[in-house]
Amino acid sequence: MSSTRRLRGPGGLILVAAFAVSAAAFGCKKDQAGGEGGAPGGSPVDQIKVPDIQYSSAQADIDKGKELFTAKGCNACHKLGGGKLVGPDLKGVTARRDKQWIAKMIMKPDVMIKEDPVAKELFKTHLTPMPSQGVAEAELPLIMSYLKANE
Ligand code: HEC
Repeated sequence: MSSTRRLRGPGGLILVAAFAVSAAAFGCKKDQAGGEGGAPGGSPVDQIKVPDIQYSSAQADIDKGKELFTAKGCNACHKLGGGKLVGPDLKGVTARRDKQWIAKMIMKPDVMIKEDPVAKELFKTHLTPMPSQGVAEAELPLIMSYLKANE
């Protein structure tokens, strides 16, 4: 601030200095919103951290995934074959979408329907925002393996 006061030149210069200060403050705010050290310029979707998903074909994992699909309330809004409920039919979702995309949709649907073009379109069609179901990282691959098994 003292540097601003020392400027004796015409008002224009002070204005430029003031603008620089406010631009810096704005930049700061943006960094904070971006969260923990995401790549500069990375989109909010890029910044969603999800584990690397491997589909399991072990029956025990698929059975656990099926239980979780009910326990987490997914079945209140999604069918696996037979058409749309509140949300899209999830039959074949593992074929039509990338694994990491599905993982992000399950973990951070709120960010996805605001920032991801495909999820935005889905929201336009279904008109209900999918809520986050509090799926744990360890549960995620099990649920997804169940979807894969019913592809
Ligand atoms: C309250 C209803 C609701 C619940 C509960 C819900 N979803 Fe959704 N889901 C939706 C809607 C609606 C969409 C479409 C996007 C939107 O409008 O948010 C969607 C989209 C999806 C998609 C993308 C589908 C596609 O065609 O690409 C996946 C995958 C998905 N949900 C998985 C799940 C899983 C797994 C659970 C449980 C952990 C779950 N959802 C719980 C409503 C729900």
